[in-house]
Amino acid sequence: MLEITYSVRAGDIEHGGTASAWLKVELRKEGVSEQLARRAGVIAFEGEMNLILYATRGGTLHVAVDDAYIEIELNDDGPGIEDLDLAMTPGYSTAPYWAANLGFGAGMGLINMERNSDRFEISSHLGEGTRIVCWIDRRKDDNST
Ligand SMILES: Nc1ncnc2c1ncn2[C@@H]1O[C@H](COP(=O)(O)OP(=O)(O)OP(=O)(O)O)[C@@H](O)[C@H]1O
Ligand SMILES: [Mg+2]
Repeated sequence: MLEITYSVRAGDIEHGGTASAWLKVELRKEGVSEQLARRAGVIAFEGEMNLILYATRGGTLHVAVDDAYIEIELNDDGPGIEDLDLAMTPGYSTAPYWAANLGFGAGMGLINMERNSDRFEISSHLGEGTRIVCWIDRRKDDNST
């Protein structure tokens, strides 16, 4: 049983990847396999980068682990996403040019989060914020080391 919340600051590109790197270590300590910790790390990395790049006031990464699931939740309070289908389309990005110069903005983050999840939920309202919840099913793990 593990439950942790990490705050991600808006614009804090320098620390991009910190939360997800730390998460992978914590998951391994908790007995999660390398394979699932890597998937969780990808989800958390893409999630925290989006909070850094797009969430006006940053947001939170919340992770809960039990015997059955790794649950990764990302919350922010704005600006929200106008068209979720468009945002989920591979290649679609509104990343600013300076982020693109650092290698972000391929428009693959959300789809990578979905692909690395056994269950994926996203909800967003313009002017309110975005909530993403990803579950990885530990019982489907075929590599228990
Ligand atoms: N938390 C968020 N708040 C507001 N808009 C968001 C948020 N997350 C994603 N978006 C919007 O959805 C688009 C697609 O996000 P996605 O993570 O798939 O790609 P990207 O961040 O543009 O590029 P990449 O993740 O490949 O570096 C973003 O460009 C942005 O417009
Ligand atoms: Mg992204």
